[in-house]
Amino acid sequence: MRTDFPAAQRLLSWYDRHRRDLPWRAPPGRRAAPYRVWLSEIMLQQTTVPAAAPYFLAFTERWPTVQDLAAASLDEVLVAWAGLGYYARARNLHKCARVVADQHGGRFPETEAELLDLPGVGAYTAAAVAAIAFDRPATVVDGNVERVVARLFAVEEPLPGVKPKLRALAATLTPQARPGDFAQAMMDLGSGVCTPRKPKCMLCPLAEACDAREAGIQEELPRKSAKADKPTRRGVAYWLINPHGDVLLRRRAEDGLLGGMTEVPSTGWAEGAPPDARAVERAAPLAASWRTLPGSVRHTFSHFHLELGVVAARAGEDWARADGIWVPLDQLGGQALPSVMRKVVRHALAHAQPSPP
Ligand code: ADE
Ligand code: SF4
Repeated sequence: MRTDFPAAQRLLSWYDRHRRDLPWRAPPGRRAAPYRVWLSEIMLQQTTVPAAAPYFLAFTERWPTVQDLAAASLDEVLVAWAGLGYYARARNLHKCARVVADQHGGRFPETEAELLDLPGVGAYTAAAVAAIAFDRPATVVDGNVERVVARLFAVEEPLPGVKPKLRALAATLTPQARPGDFAQAMMDLGSGVCTPRKPKCMLCPLAEACDAREAGIQEELPRKSAKADKPTRRGVAYWLINPHGDVLLRRRAEDGLLGGMTEVPSTGWAEGAPPDARAVERAAPLAASWRTLPGSVRHTFSHFHLELGVVAARAGEDWARADGIWVPLDQLGGQALPSVMRKVVRHALAHAQPSPP
């Protein structure tokens, strides 16, 4: 990329005209509260802007400050987070709120190094909070920024190996003035102009400086190493209704996938063939006449696909012996059910016979 003119200045004046109006952004010229920056950046790490926005609004309405969030129970936070995915984020969010409230007097630290010490705050979030909330010249690198930088400098080596180089190149662009706006401008450029497919170079404030555009290879960058396909794990979920019409749910272990979230009980999830009828009976929460519902539920996690069959039964007199919690069907909304389990619930409600009155 040519650096004989200030790319950052061009990008900033583009941002002043075209910046997106997002719920976590302060008005032009103002700094957003660190709590709101931190919360939004945690939410946005694995989630798109349209998906995160309603959660951000609900969280900040219910818990306007970090102290309010720290005073909430973990369960309340998990229920509010349900549907956003990557639930370790929610547990760390709550832990981090308590650390900031209890050990930092309710004020977020200002430097990247101190921010990195907080639970759940990695390099990306620390840089984003330092830059956006405190206007420190930190370099914020997410997937959007990697793509823009790979194109500006026509970097041809593939991701993910080239990440450190892209980060170093991004750092050469970060200005001392308005680093927070610069970081957000890079994100807006990546999401609206320098898009993964068909970048709108005609509208790009950095077009004159862009090596990939000059070479005509912008649509090919960034290159990616061929990666192994995700494996598929299979299992069977148990939709069990007791004589009161309540459904059996369980709370998952604190650590691991979907930690602390609520689930419909199921067999283990393993690669290979789905569990056979005997395995399904053996792992059932209660002996009952299990009926296999038609179809299955599919969900994709970060590192595997999941295909869940669903079996349904009415529990008999011994229903109270089942391990778990019985929840009335009209109270499922108050449970910390992750997306995959909401799919199981929808599938079961669509295919199981209604429970007796
Ligand atoms: N993606 C991650 N952080 C963002 C932000 N602050 N604004 C817009 N998109 C983002
Ligand atoms: Fe991206 Fe095109 Fe701008 Fe280069 S000129 S940064 S490829 S939008």
